[in-house]
Amino acid sequence: MLDIKNVHASVDDKDILNGVSLQVNAGEVHAIMGPNGAGKSTLASIIAGKEEFEMTQGSITLNNEDITEMDPEERAHKGVFLSFQYPVEIPGVSVTNFIKTAINGNRKAKGLEDMPASEMLKMIKEKADLLEIDRKFLSRSLNEGFSGGEKKRNEIFQMAMLEPKLAILDETDSGLDIDALKVVANGVNKLKSKDNAVIVITHYQRLLDYIVPDFVHVLMDGKIVKSGTKELAYELEAKGYDWIKEELV
Ligand SMILES: Nc1ncnc2c1ncn2[C@@H]1O[C@H](COP(=O)(O)OP(=O)(O)OP(=O)(O)O)[C@@H](O)[C@H]1O
Ligand SMILES: [Mg+2]
Repeated sequence: MLDIKNVHASVDDKDILNGVSLQVNAGEVHAIMGPNGAGKSTLASIIAGKEEFEMTQGSITLNNEDITEMDPEERAHKGVFLSFQYPVEIPGVSVTNFIKTAINGNRKAKGLEDMPASEMLKMIKEKADLLEIDRKFLSRSLNEGFSGGEKKRNEIFQMAMLEPKLAILDETDSGLDIDALKVVANGVNKLKSKDNAVIVITHYQRLLDYIVPDFVHVLMDGKIVKSGTKELAYELEAKGYDWIKEELV
């Protein structure tokens, strides 16, 4: 599904990613862990095609199509979803209306008609129930005055509605209380299928108890320096990152 080859990226002439390669197959969940400033969010942005980073080398392929040169919107239409992609506050635009516009935008790009209102309403109800989202929340202005946890829940709601092929969740666990964490994780698990894939970026093994990854990768100094199964996350939780540095010397 996703094939990242030797990606180098920089911002303002500062190298941030130094040759990242990663392969994600449909049906898989990959976790990316690593110290602060390692380049995890940068990698997420590069996959989503955000323009503030310059990709200086490498290629990104999604479902056998080279997306390296595509803009973020095109990639979104191809099924790439990055949490925090839409963190903007839009007064006067409700959570529901925002997602309706996004869904119909995706459909338009595929040459499809708008989703019929009744179908949209049904889907909104279904996904809101799945994520235990209050109906009142859906009519609030997007991100305006949202608490940290509400913002995260809204992200997952957007993901649930857009049904992406590849979802990248960047620190979706930070700021969630225990119950919300379970709801969000449960939502992600229910959305998982053999046709889509998820990349979870997290600092804590705790989230991976709920969203069980098939693979765990450690990103350090702009490179994936170690990959393993979920046991690696336990090892990191217990030992931190220094031992990996020592292994590399
Ligand atoms: N727009 C920018 N301008 C300058 N430096 C940047 C920019 N964006 C990222 N960086 C730098 O790139 C490096 C990697 O940042 P990134 O946000 O990818 O790290 P991260 O692994 O997500 O860290 P964290 O765990 O703290 O979220 C950091 O040193 C950061 O300061
Ligand atoms: Mg980050």
